[in-house]
Amino acid sequence: MFKNILCAVDGSDHALRAAKTAAELAAKFGAKLTILTVAKKIKLSPEVKRYMQLEHLSGEPQYILDDYTENVIDQARAAARHDGVPNIKTEVREGHPARTIIEFAEKHDFDTIVLGSRGLGDMESTLLGSVSHKVATLAHCTVITVR
Ligand SMILES: Nc1ncnc2c1ncn2[C@@H]1O[C@H](COP(=O)(O)OP(=O)(O)O)[C@@H](O)[C@H]1O
Ligand SMILES: [Mg+2]
Repeated sequence: MFKNILCAVDGSDHALRAAKTAAELAAKFGAKLTILTVAKKIKLSPEVKRYMQLEHLSGEPQYILDDYTENVIDQARAAARHDGVPNIKTEVREGHPARTIIEFAEKHDFDTIVLGSRGLGDMESTLLGSVSHKVATLAHCTVITVR
């Protein structure tokens, strides 16, 4: 346990708290730490695609990250570095957030997933966000939801 930790972050304060917890855990247990964000795929219009072909522009941008998310990722890296975590990676995937987090965790043999209890959604009445609920329910490894 606590050898290979995955921390999933969106642009929320909750995610940042989760990242700080994940960094502390990774430092304490000498674990590897990966910070994962699931971004929305950019949908390019046919006109833009055609233009890119005409201009021989390859390597289309695959995703965009908003400033909040970029900021959380930067701060998460800084916290982990500050805590002395030797092995920090950041990854961005696109797709359905909960499913992508769960599949990523299984594929790369993470023993623990750390995420925030809530995210950027505004459903104040619920205690858990839909991503944290799904990941906690469906993931095969230990899941820590940080309040
Ligand atoms: N797109 C995402 N990529 C990575 N992690 C995410 C993503 N969305 C949410 N999370 C993680 O799940 C936690 C809970 O967010 P979520 O379930 O989406 O709550 P809400 O419904 O309030 O938005 C966040 O704090 C973050 O750790
Ligand atoms: Mg959300």
